[in-house]
Amino acid sequence: MAMDGASIDVVPVELGTRSYEVRIGQGLLARAATEIAPLLRRRKVAVITDDTVAATHLMELARAFEMAGITLTALTIPPGEQSKGWPQLARCVEWLLEQKVERRDVVVAFGGGVVGDLVGFASAILRRGVRFVQIPTTLLAQVDSSVGGKTGINTAQGKNLVGAFHQPSLVLADIDVLETLPARDFLAGYGEVVKYGLLGDAAFFDWLEVNGPDLARDPAKRQYAVTRSVQMKAGIVSRDETEEGERALLNLGHTFCHALEKATGYGDRLLHGEGVAIGCALAFEVSQRLGLCSQEAPSRVRAHLRAMGTKVDIADIHGSLPSAEALLALMGQDKKVVDGKLRFILARGIGEAFVADDVPHDVVLGVLTEALAAKR
Ligand code: GLY
Repeated sequence: MAMDGASIDVVPVELGTRSYEVRIGQGLLARAATEIAPLLRRRKVAVITDDTVAATHLMELARAFEMAGITLTALTIPPGEQSKGWPQLARCVEWLLEQKVERRDVVVAFGGGVVGDLVGFASAILRRGVRFVQIPTTLLAQVDSSVGGKTGINTAQGKNLVGAFHQPSLVLADIDVLETLPARDFLAGYGEVVKYGLLGDAAFFDWLEVNGPDLARDPAKRQYAVTRSVQMKAGIVSRDETEEGERALLNLGHTFCHALEKATGYGDRLLHGEGVAIGCALAFEVSQRLGLCSQEAPSRVRAHLRAMGTKVDIADIHGSLPSAEALLALMGQDKKVVDGKLRFILARGIGEAFVADDVPHDVVLGVLTEALAAKR
């Protein structure tokens, strides 16, 4: 794994005939055509991105393909979660058909989680499945959503309720691109990075405690953090692609997060990664109340998130929130409910998460009540 920041890290996602590589490093945008060319059966790619990424990075990508003699056509969609729905899905699919993209071609998803999920799903259903490449441009997308093949859209009934498992053929994570991210978005993505340490790698959490504050400005450390996160995700996905078991650990903090996101309207009040950070802290709190982990563990989690400057507590969310009972009810609507029971990812310590199906509701309610009281 590179710590000098100069070389490319390659993380394989082992899935038999659908295996692929995640390549992580600096300067990958400029090299994108060289990296993707071996996948092409004709010298043509269709790229879908959003207006923000297009304004900052599309020229560089287009130049790379032009220099390689590969024709690039691009569609841009509006940025933001609202694009992850039926209207933009239809637009993407129809545009790809107009571009005469065939099954032997490659579609490129160039953007954050919204673009990756939407374009991945469009690729899954276009002509019953065409190959696609992810070029994630946010920290959250590089360490989580671009890897593992979960694609889909939101509907009026909820988030990510329509979709498909459709693995990319390649993921190119250029860590230089993260330098153009607003600080708040970078920190939100960090919520997913810290999650990997908390769920299964205590040594990585130790490393993040020391080095996390440097990631935004130190490319070598940033590359190490992205690579280690992707290695963790790749391992879990290889062992449990369709979330029959171990993959659920990736949802550490997410049951709380989804309830808080619903309560705040999926908007600027709470970004997904901020909700994950708060959710991880709450999951450790619940674990400690149940006697599963030491008192020190939740304190360490919260101290580190505080040192990073991200949201840590429910009290850090501006504006009013529903009651603890109402938040618990919102958790019950989460799609990960199995047989009417709430499923939580809890921990026996830092790096030791497990799936718990029988968490007493009153303990969760108690933790939420105290967290909300701190807000007043
Ligand atoms: N983002 C969770 C997963 O990919 O399973």
